[in-house]
Amino acid sequence: MTADLPPIATTALPDGERVPVLGQGTWKMGEDARRRDAEIAALRHGLDLGMTLIDTAEMYANGMSEVIVGEAIAGRRDEVFLVSKVLPSHASRFGTIRACEGSLRRLDTDVIDLYLLHWAGDEPLAETIEAFGRLQDEGKIRHWGVSNFDPGDCEALFALAGGDAAAANQVLYNPGRRGIEFDLLPWCQRRGLPVMAYSPIEQGRIARHPALAAVAQRHGATPAQIALAFVLRQPGVIAIPKAGSSAHVAENRAACALALDDADMAVLDRAFPPPARASALQML
Ligand SMILES: NC(=O)c1ccc[n+]([C@@H]2O[C@H](COP(=O)([O-])OP(=O)(O)OC[C@H]3O[C@@H](n4cnc5c(N)ncnc54)[C@H](OP(=O)(O)O)[C@@H]3O)[C@@H](O)[C@H]2O)c1
Repeated sequence: MTADLPPIATTALPDGERVPVLGQGTWKMGEDARRRDAEIAALRHGLDLGMTLIDTAEMYANGMSEVIVGEAIAGRRDEVFLVSKVLPSHASRFGTIRACEGSLRRLDTDVIDLYLLHWAGDEPLAETIEAFGRLQDEGKIRHWGVSNFDPGDCEALFALAGGDAAAANQVLYNPGRRGIEFDLLPWCQRRGLPVMAYSPIEQGRIARHPALAAVAQRHGATPAQIALAFVLRQPGVIAIPKAGSSAHVAENRAACALALDDADMAVLDRAFPPPARASALQML
């Protein structure tokens, strides 16, 4: 099935472990029981195609997304790089441990590969870091990281004892949301901290944009694939599109074969100007 596709490139976590730059998101999965079988089939199809990084969170569908992921990876755990997230309201010294144990149960696994703080909240970050360390010592998580952290949040994190052990920052990034290119992305790239681009096709909305359609036409591709290629052109960026059907999964997987050239970027830069100054980090 992947014979005619180039392999998915990998990027290095700070400790040198390599992970695929194209994975699978799961927000909204598990919300509608009628879609359950299709969602599980889509995730399994993604695994078949090498999209072995799967992103979920305790927040998604109140834990049901993790249940869907658990079913999708049953019998295939060793193939998967599993990412989940703790809610900021749970991210105290003990709450983080409890939340992780709940995620492990729902995912039906012994270990989460990368456990993220979903966004910066009110619990002291030092406590969250301490809990992440304990979870690592107990073998319940392998790496930890953050999400929706702007440059100031990252500086504050790295100033804390053990804060520079973060393995990733997951943020909103797609052609229409280029703010991170000004400051956050270079900050992370300088430190070898991978950026996980969430909503890389703007939750499907950007798939109708005429500039993406124009570039897509040049490549015999689709606008969604161009949005993914746009994100993946950056070193150290991992895209995690969510697809609820095997057809969308296959389309997204094929985006790895695309390389945007200067003419493509000129069209995209006109439609989606790169940032000229710092702006507040956007979230969805
Ligand atoms: N850390 C955070 O705060 C945060 C926030 C948002 C998202 N995330 C993570 O990032 C993942 C991706 O973001 P997202 O789900 O918000 O948005 P997204 O991946 O940009 O878009 C998902 C939507 O696009 C559609 N789609 C997928 N492939 C397509 C294609 N090839 N052509 C046209 N439409 C396509 C999907 O429809 P179908 O379902 O019908 O295929 C779905 O409606 C999430 O699932 C979640 O894991 C994290």
